[in-house]
Amino acid sequence: MAKVTVQDVSKAYVDEKSREQVLAVDHSSFTCAEGEFLVLLGPSGCGKTSTLRMIAGLEDISAGRIFIGETCVNDLSPEERNVAMAFENYALYPPLTVYENITFPLKARGLPRDQIHASLQHIAELLDITDILDRQPAELSGGQQQRVSLGRCIIRDADVYLMDEPLSHLDSELRLRTRGELKRLHELNQRTMMFVTHDQVEALALADRIVIMDGGRIQQIDTPVRIYEHPSNLFVAGFIGEPPMNLIPGRIMSDDGVPVFRATDHPFSVRLPDNLSTTAKKYAKKDLVLGIRPHHLHVVDRDESGQYPGKVVIYESLGEEGVMEVEIEGCPLTLLTDPERHYHPGDTVGISADWEKAIFFDRASGQSLDLDRV
Ligand SMILES: Nc1ncnc2c1ncn2[C@@H]1O[C@H](COP(=O)(O)OP(=O)(O)OP(=O)(O)O)[C@@H](O)[C@H]1O
Ligand SMILES: [Mg+2]
Repeated sequence: MAKVTVQDVSKAYVDEKSREQVLAVDHSSFTCAEGEFLVLLGPSGCGKTSTLRMIAGLEDISAGRIFIGETCVNDLSPEERNVAMAFENYALYPPLTVYENITFPLKARGLPRDQIHASLQHIAELLDITDILDRQPAELSGGQQQRVSLGRCIIRDADVYLMDEPLSHLDSELRLRTRGELKRLHELNQRTMMFVTHDQVEALALADRIVIMDGGRIQQIDTPVRIYEHPSNLFVAGFIGEPPMNLIPGRIMSDDGVPVFRATDHPFSVRLPDNLSTTAKKYAKKDLVLGIRPHHLHVVDRDESGQYPGKVVIYESLGEEGVMEVEIEGCPLTLLTDPERHYHPGDTVGISADWEKAIFFDRASGQSLDLDRV
């Protein structure tokens, strides 16, 4: 087991047609601690696979250095790095059976047959592939091939495990189950794992820490809870959470000495609670964005004090909860509702909010101003 250190690493590709340079990874620095489950998360094209392939040794590093343990691996081949990999395109050996594909890394190391067989049985049960061990890759569905590829990765005894969207081709039930097994396996063995996904729910469920990327740049590195509660900027605030955080541009003004947030685009305003008064004083009259999570807004009786009259714009019943878009003084806000009650567009409802949970961002830079409270 070893830690991985990515030190000021960049990756530039040259586009074959236009001959222009694409900076896929832009001065990335982070560490995956020994035994940590680190998830690289971000939208398509943000540089996750490029980062992982550079760690694996499958892609040249354009600038910076990568260490596995204390060894700089920039000039080492993938074999010399002792990393196990599961990539999205499976890379299975077509002439070999599933059994042979998974046990290949153990055979190559000359482990005894009994030991190989025992490891195989354990992994096959874990991934629910015991009934396809005699088949060849061409006879498998995409989801089955993906599990075989994952099996070949986790059966090995490696310093680091690198996985690029290893659950993407599984149906939702299998995906959930395999995700749980991976997490359990990690808790049991405490291996160093780096896992790439663009699915924030998967990231929040699996990670000890998440590295969030956008446009080749790291946006935030933190635990799932801290990223959810204290997003470092507007990108992270909008990317994490489903439905995403409500973001309202506006300014903090004083209303007879009481700080009030006034929306820029609508007549909507909020009297700010005491816990935000320091922020309010410090950033008065600056261009800000107020962020509030959907679950911090609630439908209440129209005559409850402090409620805002809202008009339902969209309502979807999703079984366990409802998702409502409501307009308060022209300002659109999304919230989650009780599954027992149903609404229709045009309904008038009372809305209350836990404004003390609101956070602010600088509108120009997009950076969070939440640090005062952390
Ligand atoms: N071989 C290549 N040649 C040129 N550009 C490339 C190459 N590989 C990747 N890129 C570009 O680099 C950027 C990052 O790609 P990368 O595959 O690392 O993204 P990703 O975050 O893994 O995305 P996805 O979620 O879609 O897999 C993209 O703009 C992509 O088009
Ligand atoms: Mg990718």
